[in-house]
Amino acid sequence: MSEKSTNNLLVIFGATGDLSKRKLLPALYSLYEQDALEHTSILAIGRKPFRSEEFRTYLRSESLIKTEYADDRDGFLEKIDYLELPMNDPDGYGPLRTFMQAHREKNITFYLSVPQELFEPIVSGIAHIGLNTASSKVAFEKPFGSDLESATKLNAFVTQAFSEDQIFRIDHYVGKETIQNILAFRFANSLFEPVWNNHYIDNIQITATESLGVENRGAYYDHAGALRDMVQNHLFQVLALATMEPPHTLTSTAIHDEKVKVIRSLRLGKDLLSHVVFGQYAGYKDEAGIPESSRTETFAALRLEVHNWRLKGVPIYLRTGKALSGKKTKVVVEFRKNASILYNEQDELDRNRIIFEISPYEGISVGFNVKEYGETKKTRAVWSEFIQTKEGPEAYARILSDLLLGDHTLFTRWDMIEESWKIVDHLVHCKENCPILHSYEKGSDGPEAVNTLLEMDGREWYE
Ligand SMILES: NC(=O)c1ccc[n+]([C@@H]2O[C@H](COP(=O)([O-])OP(=O)(O)OC[C@H]3O[C@@H](n4cnc5c(N)ncnc54)[C@H](OP(=O)(O)O)[C@@H]3O)[C@@H](O)[C@H]2O)c1
Repeated sequence: MSEKSTNNLLVIFGATGDLSKRKLLPALYSLYEQDALEHTSILAIGRKPFRSEEFRTYLRSESLIKTEYADDRDGFLEKIDYLELPMNDPDGYGPLRTFMQAHREKNITFYLSVPQELFEPIVSGIAHIGLNTASSKVAFEKPFGSDLESATKLNAFVTQAFSEDQIFRIDHYVGKETIQNILAFRFANSLFEPVWNNHYIDNIQITATESLGVENRGAYYDHAGALRDMVQNHLFQVLALATMEPPHTLTSTAIHDEKVKVIRSLRLGKDLLSHVVFGQYAGYKDEAGIPESSRTETFAALRLEVHNWRLKGVPIYLRTGKALSGKKTKVVVEFRKNASILYNEQDELDRNRIIFEISPYEGISVGFNVKEYGETKKTRAVWSEFIQTKEGPEAYARILSDLLLGDHTLFTRWDMIEESWKIVDHLVHCKENCPILHSYEKGSDGPEAVNTLLEMDGREWYE
């Protein structure tokens, strides 16, 4: 082990895993390039028997660290040590204690990038060797629990060792620039804030689709499904930002308070079965790790409402799924139709719309009507667009940077998780009793019933 001393140590449990390889280590390298890791060392932990130098060689050979300058890469890799540890055995954490005794970092941040069954043993192991000191922090990858009961149990366990202000529950979606921009757009513009209510907004549509199927994560996904994997965390975070009241300041507590309030006010329709659509792509059961009997939903769409003063009566439609025609994440806010007594009397005026594009590119578009050139009473819809051209930090770089700084704003507070699970548990229960799991073709737009969900209300998805 190398002898080095910095103020901060980031300990990544599960550093040999898929997420570390694809996201965390590249994000850390980008922070290193921005000189944001000057006072931080990294300890990578896994069950594979690497020595530190072998792990660095593995990182080099996997080309995880992409740079033209070998010197830069070596400087970054020098910051990383590796420790083999039986993560699931709290009595086996002696080597971690020995490592810490040889180093003098004051602030330790533990990042648990492991399957959630390992969360409790790792927290026990850390506590067992007394590393849960007041200056330490602990971050948990999503999902946090698999239903309200397991999340509550996990939270009770974790809060015996760490206090809420030491705990960081990750939802990397919130690290994306345009998702953060939803609040700025709504509350920094006197043009839009006054119309953000049920007098003017007709409906809100939130879409997060992927073209990939379950790939090599079948075993995990089959226990999760779209509701647990996407709706409980990412989609509810986006929904909260699009519908919450203004926080009184931009502090973490004020923002979390408003997010929780709006999630608490969510209502599912009484006739729930007519407000949900579940689907599974054809060929899902042939994927590795998926049992023939699986009824896991790889697609979910639902209609809900925010039952508060501002938005009561405005339907919010969510849809998410795998193996669809494209990777798209966006929020479409549709405004009520103009009375149209002056223009376009024959064919109605188009609605005004605001679209937050999150993927494949990031930006915000505002759709409005202008007079058709040379015409008097005829109009056409046009768009004014802001495209986020500046390559912001990858969501994970932002998340890691805020974690090291101890800023909770982009992490999920326990009460938000609790409220989200209450609703998702209800939806999962509904899905388990739902007689229909629609099949849909890979590369399609999902089951046809997803269109009926809006047609019943006289609306359609805005693509
Ligand atoms: N991958 C993603 O795209 C993604 C996206 C969002 C959130 N997440 C979350 O991030 C966390 C890590 O995901 P991942 O895809 O990186 O997982 P992973 O590749 O399956 O494993 C992560 C790490 O945990 C170790 N591990 C797995 N099972 C173990 C066991 N039974 N005993 C001891 N060690 C074990 C792996 O060791 P080996 O390398 O030796 O197998 C690896 O170091 C999970 O909580 C996941 O839900 C992942």
